[in-house]
Amino acid sequence: MMKSPFLGVCYYPEHWPEHRWIEDAQKMVALGLRQVRIGEFSWSRIEPEPGRFEWNWLDRAIETLGDAGLGVMLGTPTATPPKWLIDAYPEILAYDINGCPRKFGSRRHYCFSSEKYADETLRIVEAIAKRYGDNDYVTAWQTDNEYGCHDTVRSYSPAAKLAFQKWLQARYENVNILNKKWGNVFWSQEYHSFDQVDLPNLTVTEPSPSHLLDFYRFSSDQVVKYNRLQTKIIRQYAPNKTIAHNFMGFTFSFDHFAVANDLDIAGWDSYPIGFLDVGPFSAADKERYLRQGHPDIAGFHHDLYRAVGNGRWSVLEQQPGAVNWAPHNPAPLTGMVRLWSHEAVAHGAQNVNYFRWRQAPFAQEQMHAGLERPDFKPSPAYAEAEQTFLDLEKTHRNNNTPKAKVAIIVSYEAQWVFEAQPQGENWNYVAILFEWYAALRRFGLDVDFVSADMPINGYKIVIVPSLPILTQAQIDRFSNSDALILFGPRTGSKTPTLTIPHTLAPGLLQSLLPIKVARVESFPDFHRIDGDFDGTQVAGHSWLDHVESELSPIVSSTDGGLLYCKDNYYYLTTLPNEMFFAALVATLAQKAGVQTTLLPPDIRLRQRGDLIYAFNYGPEPVDLPTNIAPKSESYILGAQTLEPAGVAAWKIE
Ligand code: GAL
Repeated sequence: MMKSPFLGVCYYPEHWPEHRWIEDAQKMVALGLRQVRIGEFSWSRIEPEPGRFEWNWLDRAIETLGDAGLGVMLGTPTATPPKWLIDAYPEILAYDINGCPRKFGSRRHYCFSSEKYADETLRIVEAIAKRYGDNDYVTAWQTDNEYGCHDTVRSYSPAAKLAFQKWLQARYENVNILNKKWGNVFWSQEYHSFDQVDLPNLTVTEPSPSHLLDFYRFSSDQVVKYNRLQTKIIRQYAPNKTIAHNFMGFTFSFDHFAVANDLDIAGWDSYPIGFLDVGPFSAADKERYLRQGHPDIAGFHHDLYRAVGNGRWSVLEQQPGAVNWAPHNPAPLTGMVRLWSHEAVAHGAQNVNYFRWRQAPFAQEQMHAGLERPDFKPSPAYAEAEQTFLDLEKTHRNNNTPKAKVAIIVSYEAQWVFEAQPQGENWNYVAILFEWYAALRRFGLDVDFVSADMPINGYKIVIVPSLPILTQAQIDRFSNSDALILFGPRTGSKTPTLTIPHTLAPGLLQSLLPIKVARVESFPDFHRIDGDFDGTQVAGHSWLDHVESELSPIVSSTDGGLLYCKDNYYYLTTLPNEMFFAALVATLAQKAGVQTTLLPPDIRLRQRGDLIYAFNYGPEPVDLPTNIAPKSESYILGAQTLEPAGVAAWKIE
């Protein structure tokens, strides 16, 4: 059995006078917090000048926090290389897509390919790990901060160019192979040597999609390599400590599974209201969920990062109030901070850290709420954190999330393929994943994400929203599975170097489904492709694969078949609207013998251990339908009527 989940907070001792630390630490403990996450932006205070380390303040901060009873999660400060370092080695800077260095003055200004920065990273991480590796108060480590934040995975620097050329050489060995695989005869793009290959930016019109895809793969590999540099040193000096990284929401620019292979815990930073404003949501959803965030934003990421962390994951930053970085920044509805905390636990989080302890009155994030206001008084979230702690005393028990019956296959590479070649500007792979997730969750189903490279044994339904590059190993897994497997449009449509397969799409999938995508179309949002699904009027949008097949479609439209099926395999040629999703989920569930319950729109359910949780994301109270609600004496939290932002939990009967 896993350890019970606990609460924590992000704290920046360097922002506050030292005499405050002890009081802050004691208040944290009184609030029920058990972890404090510090240090991730503190390089200029740890090493104010080259080679001159000032450990005393950090020693005292760790001691104060630890003495109070908090476990310290210590971040490596590499997201913020200090000014003196950048001045000494400007080649550390990342370059944007316009070929301009990204200047000092905020954060994440380093290039993953800078060898100098790799050396400096080794140096600072080793110094910190040496000093605190065996400190009993430092119970966990965090590498860097939010890889990819502020669009920082892909750098177009001279260092990246050199590293990319080496990466290509290792991958293709012979430049003629690269020419052939990329199709460089087109537009006279042929190279004679790897050192002629430039980065795919600043071209007159679009660069070769194969070139782009390899650059995206390379950029992802650089993140993996960079993170590994850090974990290796930390493990050397802190061999038994947990190492995490805080991943982000809706971020697909690098392969999180590959980074997490070197971590113990996949952390993520949950800002549902900010994500609602910047994410792919309708105006109606943005209005309805203004102060709550869409009901599936948090769950989607909890389940995704549970997969990324191979079962071990945490919320390393939890939104506690208004943030500062979205176009608009409403405050959460009363109760949402508690709801989000419980929802994370319900999905199996090991801990939830609020970001941040106190709102800073200065600098970039002075408008970002904390548990305390800048005047040291509690903000509304303070009491909600406290309440959550008290609730957890009641819900503490088995933390295991059972394996779901339904899996969604997720691939970071798929996102890069579609970025390199969208063919329709409203094709949004991450939004497609999200819509599948939301459609399944509306039916009360728990969902597991599974990496495209992992086994799918034991699932009854497997959704492959789209997987443009297929491997034989994946086909073998699909063919050995008893699950109903649904493949979305564009699956199998590309070779590994982003060309069209000889047999056309869906390529290797043709061994399981006798279909050929003869041509495709993409459409603006206003165009609907109407179809009839067993009497239900459904519609597709944005995309259509025109299929040639001996099979008759089970959903057709005047434009062509929308859904095909053979044995346990389904192929969908378009992106479904809400009715279509509902009909698909209901049909698959019924055929697979998976029980569903169509939930009220604002309610989500989640099982953890022997508890069922219900969450109300709506701004109005909702009565749990009688087919869900337990006997009134069974509630451990809440009751049948869920207030706005209400949480209920009960033991499975
Ligand atoms: C995260 C980041 C934190 C802080 C926070 C504000 O993306 O990791 O350092 O900036 O956002 O919401």
